[in-house]
Amino acid sequence: MSVRHFLQFRDLSRDEIDHLFRRTAAIKDRFKRYEAYHPLADRTLVMIFEKASTRTRLSFEAGMHQLGGAAIYLNTRDSQLGRGEPVEDAAQVISRMCDLVMIRTFEQEIIERFAAHSRVPVINGLTNEFHPCQILADVFTFIEHRGPIAGRTVAWIGDSNNVCYTWLQAAELLDFKVRVSTPPGYEVDAAKAGPLSPGRFEQFADPVEACRGADLVTTDVWTSMGFEAEDGERRKAFADWRVDAEMMRAADPRAVFMHCLPAHRGEEVDADVIDGPQSVVWDEAENRLHVQKALMEFLLLGRIA
Ligand code: CP
Ligand code: NVA
Repeated sequence: MSVRHFLQFRDLSRDEIDHLFRRTAAIKDRFKRYEAYHPLADRTLVMIFEKASTRTRLSFEAGMHQLGGAAIYLNTRDSQLGRGEPVEDAAQVISRMCDLVMIRTFEQEIIERFAAHSRVPVINGLTNEFHPCQILADVFTFIEHRGPIAGRTVAWIGDSNNVCYTWLQAAELLDFKVRVSTPPGYEVDAAKAGPLSPGRFEQFADPVEACRGADLVTTDVWTSMGFEAEDGERRKAFADWRVDAEMMRAADPRAVFMHCLPAHRGEEVDADVIDGPQSVVWDEAENRLHVQKALMEFLLLGRIA
């Protein structure tokens, strides 16, 4: 049987995502009732971080523990990974000693090479190109608050980064629309998301117009990890792409605001939006834990009724 990986959002089918969300709801419910659930007893997750993290590390490590398994943290600073050992060799060795691997790294190509030489499932914990676990949590959070996402409209304001491209893949798979507004020179290159149906996404020069009538308004940092050298230039270019009360007023009155976090109040979002009544960012962050537990269960045990 070939090993299943989750390297980008479209690695799962729509039916599998629906299954994952049903399992997420069940696993979350048990967790809230302090009911033990240890389907991954004796299984080990290795987490490899080449970039910083709070939520991703915590949610995978706590999640694996809660499912009865163990998690091991490796980073490039104090392992051989940062000293030039080939990715292919690391994949061969690591995947002989554990059941599951999560990687946060730079180019998507690195995680693809690792997966190609891994005996066990590999999960993308963020690359320069994609952040699929984040969008699993975001879509699940939207559904919890507002019901089905099919046919809805998401407004993405700011940088066309890894989180934005993952929204585009999710829109294609789950049948909703994305309206993107970026500063000139930072527009979406649709090819990076893979095949998209006509009308799946629209680009807007004006961020307020992108938000008009949207069911969900979301943004992310102006400068993603790995792009720090561009920070000064980006601060100037993105100054008008701060999600503010005017943008939220343009959106549907029941629109929710999301941010994958960490956030910078006064940069990509105003404090009165992220700390305001439409913001669901804390539920969004918590749901990383629950969706990833469902994902690990699925990759290791397949479909559980
Ligand atoms: N949203 C997210 O992935 O957060 P961390 O960088 O803290 O893992
Ligand atoms: N786009 C951001 C997300 C951080 C969770 C980054 O890549 O740094």
